[in-house]
Amino acid sequence: MNRPITGHRSGDFSRLFAETAERLKLVFQTRQDVLILAGSGTAGLEAAVANVVSPGDKALVLCGGNFGERFVKICQAYGANVLQVEAKWGEEIDPELVAATLAEHPDVKAVFATHCETSTGVLHPIQQIARRVQQTDALLIVDAVSSLGAVDLPMDDWGLDIVVTGSQKALMLPPGLTFLAVSDKAWAAVESNQAPRFYFDLRAYRKQVRANTTPYTPAVSLIYGLAEVLTMIEAEGLSNIFNRHLLLQKMTRSAIKALELPLFTTDEAASPTVTSVGICDFDVEKLRKALRTEFNLAVAGGQQHLKGQIFRIGHMGYCSPADVLQTLTLLEIGLFQAGAPVVLGRGVRAAQEVFLTQKEVVSHG
Ligand SMILES: Cc1ncc(COP(=O)(O)O)c(C=O)c1O
Repeated sequence: MNRPITGHRSGDFSRLFAETAERLKLVFQTRQDVLILAGSGTAGLEAAVANVVSPGDKALVLCGGNFGERFVKICQAYGANVLQVEAKWGEEIDPELVAATLAEHPDVKAVFATHCETSTGVLHPIQQIARRVQQTDALLIVDAVSSLGAVDLPMDDWGLDIVVTGSQKALMLPPGLTFLAVSDKAWAAVESNQAPRFYFDLRAYRKQVRANTTPYTPAVSLIYGLAEVLTMIEAEGLSNIFNRHLLLQKMTRSAIKALELPLFTTDEAASPTVTSVGICDFDVEKLRKALRTEFNLAVAGGQQHLKGQIFRIGHMGYCSPADVLQTLTLLEIGLFQAGAPVVLGRGVRAAQEVFLTQKEVVSHG
């Protein structure tokens, strides 16, 4: 990424861009074009809404946390008539409730779902939701910002209509890019949507990606980085990447259980990319501050009403079992200092045991 910038309309850059966009299809598990926009994940979410929703359209948002709420706000900003299926923060969306709501409102144009709800650490059951949505005319639009590239989400096989992600999570890049892939069914809705849009008009990105370029100046350095990241992803292999994230999840959750701290989600609902710990009866913010100042270790806090109540350990993308073991070691020290009744080494030991068992399973086929 530190290479000098090449002209973004040069032949060299065009070749790199075309190759990179093509290679991204593996990550989306799609045959569709993958569109690359300069902007953060929220820009991708807004692009999905702007291209599908006209004022007055019914949008069903599945909401179980901060990022579900963001979809509500974006849809409202675009004049949608927003309905919601809600889950308690920390719990999964019930696919049957989605089916029942769609049966009651057959005119819903699109369903907006979050795959990994980063604010709670829940992985919502997108495949089961997709089965219900496919029985209707509605589109299914999925925010996979904190899951794509770490958790299996086969867009074409599951019949997802728009999948959105960002560069800075499982894709291991700095922030600044958002990616979208769009099904044939969704392209028809994008084409017929009369609502105004300009920078986010996905038709322009599709036209230009097919001409090996972008409609507006691309974030050249991030594309260099993306090409490198795709080489890493191809070398490790998607299914190995998914298994690595499951291992990191199991190591983290086993450690938290061994430390007798509460987990915010059940094992079944937990995301392989982020683990939420809480509700805690010690000062979570003090713990986070101590870890940051003493060890330069960032664990995330709770969002909205969970601020000060839970903390979240991210283990996605450029993250290995060694990183998780180090994090857990430092966390135990921080917890001890924060006055939580932990037995030092107990969490790390549980994580080590998960690691060894997993390795044994792998080496014995
Ligand atoms: C699930 C999810 N959706 C959307 C976003 C928003 O992405 P950005 O902050 O890149 O705009 C995030 C960021 O954390 C996220 O985790």
